[in-house]
Amino acid sequence: MKKLKNDLFLRACKSKQVERTPIWIMRQAGRYLPEYRAVRKKSDFITMCKTPELAAEVTIQPIDLIGVDAAIIFSDILVIPEAMGMKLEMIESKGPKLYSPIRLASDVDKLKTLDVSKNLKYVLDAVSLTKKELDGRVPLIGFAGSPWTLMTYMVEGGGSKNFSEIKKFIYNQPQAAHKLLERISDGVAEYLSAKIEAGANAVQIFDTWGGILSPCDFEEFSLQYIQRIISQIKRKDEPVIVFAKGVHYKLNKLADTGADVIGLDWTMDIGKVRSKIGKKVALQGNLDPTVLYGSEEKIRREAIKVLKSFGKHNGHIFNLGHGILPDISPANAKFLVDVVKEESEIFHR
Ligand code: CP3
Repeated sequence: MKKLKNDLFLRACKSKQVERTPIWIMRQAGRYLPEYRAVRKKSDFITMCKTPELAAEVTIQPIDLIGVDAAIIFSDILVIPEAMGMKLEMIESKGPKLYSPIRLASDVDKLKTLDVSKNLKYVLDAVSLTKKELDGRVPLIGFAGSPWTLMTYMVEGGGSKNFSEIKKFIYNQPQAAHKLLERISDGVAEYLSAKIEAGANAVQIFDTWGGILSPCDFEEFSLQYIQRIISQIKRKDEPVIVFAKGVHYKLNKLADTGADVIGLDWTMDIGKVRSKIGKKVALQGNLDPTVLYGSEEKIRREAIKVLKSFGKHNGHIFNLGHGILPDISPANAKFLVDVVKEESEIFHR
């Protein structure tokens, strides 16, 4: 394997010594960048995901424009339900829609078994092409949705306010729900393994909707499947990151899943989490994404707060506590990256 010119992110994932804290931003390849919007104007979102040249181009944009220490492959978590046979559409200014949502056990049986090398080959091609074009500048992250978060979209048919349909499904048809979760888990494990094989240096599992479950239901419907995936991923040294939003009550258990890194949303104090569980895993996060609406002084102050709270230890990857919002100024995103680069050195001497 070609040696990386900047491997700070990978070292931090393994809690090794670094010269400064690495930073990347969830949803860094996206609409807040005019350069992304220019590409997007010419193709719809799903075509972009399915065209390796376009996916590689927008994946690399934030490396050049913002200066982050890792790239994340441009794609979406919903390519998995699509590859299992559900029709997917991204509706302008509304979000994703999955047609004919799952409601019955018979709907689960109708889904296709995921064939990664056939139906998701375009993602693997995008990973290898991006890896080549990055030319070792920074590591490349692959990702997938957690089985719970994917099932939520598959049952709700899109975003949701009250999550009524998914709750009805798990409470009234738990057997069908577990059958679907198992099928998604095995598919996701194969998918993440294939991404690593294609060149991803690390993988992240997004459990965006973990936090809508009670602690007990979280263990039953989300955590055990995340654990199952991690135990099945074929990898050498590639770190696994788990980001479960709103799941402050299960951090200890998340740290025992076999993940190398736990991503934190902005509602917790990263220093407190570190003293509780930080020895087992590295931590990623956790600046409130809306701080980027603030002035440069505000951004600097809040970024330093996160760095100080984590303190003089290894095993921190700076990030936002959730994705960057589409109306954030790219200049503010770049300012944050520069501040973290400058201000984090003293925490690693
Ligand atoms: O992080 C990156 O830069 C890589 C690309 C990436 C996208 N989606 C591109 C995208 C990643 C990692 C995702 C993950 C994803 N997708 C998640 C989990 C992370 C999270 O934010 O919680 C979820 C829940 C989705 C589903 C999804 N895709 C939604 C809800 C939406 C609509 C809302 C929105 O932010 O636009 C999408 C569309 C989407 N995915 C866009 C991008 C750049 C915008 C599409 C466009 O250009 O119109």
